[in-house]
Order: sequence, then C-alpha cells, then structure tokens
Amino acid sequence: MLNRQSVMESSRASEKKKLKRKEILEKKKAADQLLKVASAQIDHLTSFPSFCYFNKNGLCLRLESGRGDKLSNCTKQQIQKLLKANMMGPYGSEWAVEEKVKRREMVAPEARYIFVYWNANEMMDNAFTPLLGFLHFRFTLEEEIPVLYLYELQLDSSVQGKGLGKFLMQLVELIAQENRMGAVVLTVQKSNSLAMKFYISKLRYVESSISPSRVDPLVGVEKNYEILCKTFDHEAKAILEVYSVQYRTARRVGFMAAFSDLKFED
Ligand SMILES: CC(C)(COP(=O)(O)OP(=O)(O)OC[C@H]1O[C@@H](n2cnc3c(N)ncnc32)[C@H](O)[C@@H]1OP(=O)(O)O)[C@@H](O)C(=O)NCCC(=O)NCCS
Repeated sequence: MLNRQSVMESSRASEKKKLKRKEILEKKKAADQLLKVASAQIDHLTSFPSFCYFNKNGLCLRLESGRGDKLSNCTKQQIQKLLKANMMGPYGSEWAVEEKVKRREMVAPEARYIFVYWNANEMMDNAFTPLLGFLHFRFTLEEEIPVLYLYELQLDSSVQGKGLGKFLMQLVELIAQENRMGAVVLTVQKSNSLAMKFYISKLRYVESSISPSRVDPLVGVEKNYEILCKTFDHEAKAILEVYSVQYRTARRVGFMAAFSDLKFED
C-alpha cells in the first residue's frame, strides 16, 4: 500500500510532467507560429530597401523576390542552367540524381527566392532578362529550432568575386533575424572547397552539430556534404553549434518522458 509520502511524491512528479508538457507544447506552438508568419510574408526585400540594388565593382544589379510555386518557365530554365553550370563539377557522378532532386525542390510552395538581374533591363520592354544569380531559402525547423535554411546561393561566373555573394549572405542573415529565426543553416558539398572557404573563413559559419561528420565520424566519411550554420541566440547555439549528438538525444528522451504517461485515443 502506498503511504502518504509516496502519494505526495507521485503527485508532485505528475504535476512536474504536466508543466514540462505544457512548456514543450507552448514552445512548439510558438516556433510553428514564427514559421507561419515568416513564410506568409510576400516580399522579404521590402524590409531592406538598401538591399534592393547592388552597385559595386562595376556591377549595377537589382534584386527581386519570388516563390517556388510562382516561377515562370523562363525562370525555371535559367535556375536549372545556373545550377548545372556551377554544381555539375562539385557533384561529379552524382549530378544526374541531384539535378532531379533540385528540380523538385525548385518549385516547392515553401521555396522563397531572391533573384539578381542587371538593373538596366528594367528599361527594356519585353527584353529577355538574364538571371545572374539567386538565393533559394526556406523557413523550417531543425532540432525544433526555427531556422532559415539556405538551399541555394548561385551566381553566374560573370558576377562572382565582386562582393555580391557576401552581400546576399548579409541579406539572408538579416531576413533570418528579422523573422526571429535562431540560425541560418546550409549544406555544402565537401568537394566545393571554394564555397567552404567562402562560408567558413570569410563569413564565419561553423560546422553544425547536425552535420554528418559531427553526428558520427564514420558516417561523415561516407557523406559528401557538411552542414554549416550561423546562430543568433543561446538556444540555437547550444543545439546547432556546440553540443553533441548525445546532448540532443538526451533532450529528445526528456521530451518523450514528459509525454510518456499520456494515452492517445483514435
Ligand atoms: C561561392 C559564391 C556564392 C561566393 O560569392 P562571390 O560573390 O563570388 O564572393 P564575394 O565576392 O562576395 O567574396 C566574399 C569574400 O569571400 C572571398 N572569396 C570569394 N570566393 C572565394 C574563393 N573562391 N576562394 C577564397 N575566397 C573567396 C572573397 O575574397 C571575399 O573576401 P573579402 O571580403 O575579404 O574581399 C559564388 O562564387 C558562387 O556562386 N559560386 C558557385 C556556386 C556555389 O558554389 N555556391 C555555393 C553552394 S553551397
């Protein structure tokens, strides 16, 4: 028979679990709401008028927003052309498969874009507007942290090495912070050493704790990519930068324990 003390202890433990559950659910709700608000914004450039144009190092460019489910056929073709020109080399024999994946990702309704064009084209009626570069990003959760995930940053060779990549990354980070995302996260092919240098040495991105080589060095050797991140708050830093897979597993076990006594009905 349970004595009075153990009854009280069990009721305290159950109360603690309830509080933990409430805390987790509220956090999840808040994170989902952040993603919803960020994704609903039609044009992220309107918050950053000084980023609508890039006039530097002989380039006179304009930026324009877009989304995956609203791309014209011409834009789709230009995106594919840029991707092929830049990424066929780093992907090597995997390109054929990867190209198909990227075609599907390109038109996803959650895909958000910033396109780069010559500014002069604005004056030309019905002229073909060559796409000089683009960013493809999405608002999503990584380890329950709301993040801006950068799917692509692709520049035509004619505009590379002139500060445009850095400028676009500044914009991405501002969009992430304005929408209260915890981090910018991105994937880089290991063979793309120039992009690795650009992100790590120049822009101070770090290898994320969710990157294959940090999750498990043995798996990391087999994978041909790394996941990099730049975090903007303590929680995102702890989860996505600092702590190991063991920490994240312990966190997940904690979540599961908080819900362990719940019975779900059909
Ligand atoms: C990688 C990429 C986005 C960089 O953009 P960029 O406009 O060429 O780079 P920037 O001119 O803004 O350079 C920013 C800084 O990085 C440095 N940098 C740029 N490319 C570099 C390279 N290949 N090697 C070493 N440093 C480089 C520049 O010297 C510059 O440093 P500074 O600020 O001290 O002058 C662009 O070259 C590109 O589109 N490459 C092909 C596609 C690709 O690999 N995308 C990334 C996929 S994850």
